[in-house]
Amino acid sequence: MNNSINKKKLDNLWKRGQNLLGVDYPIMCGAMTWVSEPTLVAAVCNAGAFASLACGNMPSEILEEQITMTRALTDKSFAVNLITVAPNYKTHLDVVVKAKLPVIVFAGAVPKDTEIEYAKSSGAKVLSFASTEALAKRMIRSGVDGLILEGMEAGGHIGPVAGPILWQQILFKFNKEIPIFIAGSIATGKMMAHMLLMGAAGVQLGTRFVMTNECTVHNNFKEVFKRARARDATATPQFDSRLPVIPVRALRNTGSDEFSKLQLQLLQNLSNGKIDRETAQFEVEKFWMGALKKAAVDGDVDAGSLMAGQAVGLADEIKPVKEVINELIIDAAKELDNISELLN
Ligand SMILES: Cc1cc2nc3c(=O)[nH]c(=O)nc-3n(C[C@H](O)[C@H](O)[C@H](O)COP(=O)(O)O)c2cc1C
Repeated sequence: MNNSINKKKLDNLWKRGQNLLGVDYPIMCGAMTWVSEPTLVAAVCNAGAFASLACGNMPSEILEEQITMTRALTDKSFAVNLITVAPNYKTHLDVVVKAKLPVIVFAGAVPKDTEIEYAKSSGAKVLSFASTEALAKRMIRSGVDGLILEGMEAGGHIGPVAGPILWQQILFKFNKEIPIFIAGSIATGKMMAHMLLMGAAGVQLGTRFVMTNECTVHNNFKEVFKRARARDATATPQFDSRLPVIPVRALRNTGSDEFSKLQLQLLQNLSNGKIDRETAQFEVEKFWMGALKKAAVDGDVDAGSLMAGQAVGLADEIKPVKEVINELIIDAAKELDNISELLN
């Protein structure tokens, strides 16, 4: 870290994030299925920031192994991200409670009050996503320790609302009550500084961390990210209200077209009474898990899913994790100094 940088203003702004996560820099590398595995998580944590291990729908024994592997690579604080709609969710929750992790992140749908209580009984701090004002209020009442607001610009499964609306609806209203982390579209320290000035306790980035040396995804995946423009990361459509699908933001390729075909096929099967809605939705999620693995692990960037946020247009270079984090901090600190001058 460059010693001439004055981090005092940053420390003032993100103190609550530091305390909640137990880190120097409350910059979170969000969980990314098939991407956020022990090597990347440990690299981010060892650089003084924070990361969530993704568990997708992996068998519980693998999750236990991944936690052990991460602990072998870092003695720093990290989280596991639980997807409440994953078929293995309940056993994942048992695993993380038993592992006594410092932080547990609930993603997917809204966790039940009893699940939040159970998670907290292990001593963990609990974070959850909130996509509306009503949900934010409910999560605060349920006793979560922090919220993550993710705008629809983000990569992967997304909500329906753009970040700037969520900031006005939730961040501005509740940031005094509870620490709030902003996710989606952040790729520069300058942007991070403005998020903190708006009242965020920290930030969460996904797409930017794919473009790091320590990220173990297939090189083809990173190469496509390098060339991609912001406009290439588009959200999948929903064709019919009978089959509600959570939109996914990804780079357009044959895999996206395959998803459209799958939706049409499932709708036909629903009309014919061959399957019910739950089975259709399960098939959709199964598709995404498999398609993401195909691209991120096997390197099939044509047929697989290239989940990416629009921040992909700002992530052109592959760098060591430490350099990415240092750049974010240096640029944010400089921006805060510039702003102080402007206001004087
Ligand atoms: C390839 C990829 C996979 C993702 N998988 C998950 C996931 O399994 N669980 C989750 O909560 N979020 C997931 N996300 C969202 C990230 O954790 C993070 O919130 C998001 O990427 C932030 O937005 P950004 O991409 O604009 O930085 C994923 C994002 C990407 C790009």
